[in-house]
Amino acid sequence: MHALTVLPSRADSAAVIETPEPEPADGELLVDAIAVGICGTDKEIIAGAYGSAPPGRDRLILGHESLGRVRAAPPGSGFTPGDLVVGVVRRPDPVPCGACAHGEFDMCRNGRYTERGITGLDGYASQVWCVEAEYAVRLDPRLESVGTLLEPASVVAKAWEQIERVGQRSWFSPKRVLVIGAGSIGLLAALLGVQRGLAVQVLDHVTDGPKPEAVAALGASYYSGGIGEITARARPDIIIEATGVSHLVFEAMASTAHYGIVCLTGVSPVGRHLTVDLGAVGRDMVLENDVVIGSVNANLRHYAAAADALTAADLAWLERLITRRVPLERFHEALRPRPDDIKVVLTFP
Ligand code: BGC
Repeated sequence: MHALTVLPSRADSAAVIETPEPEPADGELLVDAIAVGICGTDKEIIAGAYGSAPPGRDRLILGHESLGRVRAAPPGSGFTPGDLVVGVVRRPDPVPCGACAHGEFDMCRNGRYTERGITGLDGYASQVWCVEAEYAVRLDPRLESVGTLLEPASVVAKAWEQIERVGQRSWFSPKRVLVIGAGSIGLLAALLGVQRGLAVQVLDHVTDGPKPEAVAALGASYYSGGIGEITARARPDIIIEATGVSHLVFEAMASTAHYGIVCLTGVSPVGRHLTVDLGAVGRDMVLENDVVIGSVNANLRHYAAAADALTAADLAWLERLITRRVPLERFHEALRPRPDDIKVVLTFP
């Protein structure tokens, strides 16, 4: 079978290679790949800046935004051939830490977790893959064209859960959310905000094309100016930062209403220096009871919430988010950004 692989820590080593089909271990599903989404993490791994291969191996099979169809399932697994499935990314650390022992592996405390296609475990960018039945999520067959969005949606469902849990520490009745970045994470965060009945504003730098169109189709408001222009009128109760751009992260922290919650989901590059008045931000955070949360990954509860959110969404709207479908063998094309890209997926023959 063909698989998209890299030599982690070696820039530009990505290659589609021929490798034997995996054999399912006890309790595992055998799955034929349909598609795999590409995200910033994949690009970082390909640039040699992140990721690790399975122990004893040089190459890592990439791919963590999976979608496939079950070819074979063990009896009693709850799955049957033909089911549409997505594989969960993270596995608990082997110790396990308290969080992993309680199924909250997205909150692993010792950092010894593994992640398929990212850290120490092969991913899903191969024509055939296996997954433990307990780490497979069944999708509504209606979602086949957009099923690769489940993993990013799970990351967003976790972020929303965190925001709501932090909000619940006192009286909480948010009205306005600002989402920074209209990539797939930002747009899915906006979708979940609209589903919660909030007034959603989305900020990005592009002025036309599929991003503003997707925001408008959601019934949210789109802005391409600075954060200050939006927040001057009405400060948001919640800000979801989905770019990782350092100055936006900092501006978000300074832009909420009282009792504001900023949730950071974008991984910022390191080594960029900004001159900022941390005293002013710290002072506002104290005097307004503000909170900044970092949020990464997702556990099984979040995948279930994400599947519900996608099922409840308008399919035609979700399809707008997948702006290019590129066959696996032409992965180089998928990695070259185009101005109108939201989500690019690799397809399997
Ligand atoms: C993935 C997460 C993962 C994170 C860090 C993201 O791209 O969506 O599942 O935890 O990268 O490795």
